Amino acid sequence: MLVALDLPDLERAELLARRLAPHVGGFKVGLELMASEGPEAISRISALGLPVFADAKLHDIPNTAAAAARSLAGRGARWVTAHASGSPAMLAAVVEALGEDTGLLAVTVLTSVADADLAALGVAGPLADQVRRLALVAEEAGAEGVVCAVDEVGVVKEVSEQLLAVTPGIRVDVSRSHDQRRVATPQEAVAAGADLLVVGRAITEAPDPVQAAMEVADLAKRTPSV
Ligand code: C5P
Repeated sequence: MLVALDLPDLERAELLARRLAPHVGGFKVGLELMASEGPEAISRISALGLPVFADAKLHDIPNTAAAAARSLAGRGARWVTAHASGSPAMLAAVVEALGEDTGLLAVTVLTSVADADLAALGVAGPLADQVRRLALVAEEAGAEGVVCAVDEVGVVKEVSEQLLAVTPGIRVDVSRSHDQRRVATPQEAVAAGADLLVVGRAITEAPDPVQAAMEVADLAKRTPSV
């Protein structure tokens, strides 16, 4: 499990990461922290010794996306994200720029997006078909994995068993979905075959984040009852 450190300042994020480190598999540093604190956030969280996922969600021309990816890898990120819809050429340039120690995780369709949103964007549905198309593009470009909702893990694994399926939108209580549209419990994620669970507010906004992280980790170990 990777905890999304979606906090506005690095001091708080680092403090929380130190407390959570014995109980989790790594951390995700996303746009909120990178925009407020810069790439130093990746270096400082990486220095804690667990893998860090730089969720930069790159989407630009290949040259620019590759240059940004190279900088993030240089800060110690174990994974960097780019939108798969950025094009096969952009993804291939990012993979090359990341080098051997950092993998690309290609974002398919955000978990905050629903079928109706795709229709508004002129993308042919159903949503799972779009995830399949983007996972194929990601695989062909040499991505290590893709980011998708739990519902689409099966589709990703049909494209390639080797692609890591990284799933945000995890909730212990699925009725507390915030801005997410496609959420699932830790047990459902594991049962679907997800390789890495990304958990943010279910932990960071809990009254006791360490207790919440232990609960999510424990639930992820259990076989679902239905
Ligand atoms: O708080 P919550 O658990 O919803 O956080 C999910 C995290 O995963 C956020 O940092 C968000 O940016 C990220 N994410 C996502 N959907 C994707 C890719 C990343 O929610 N497809």
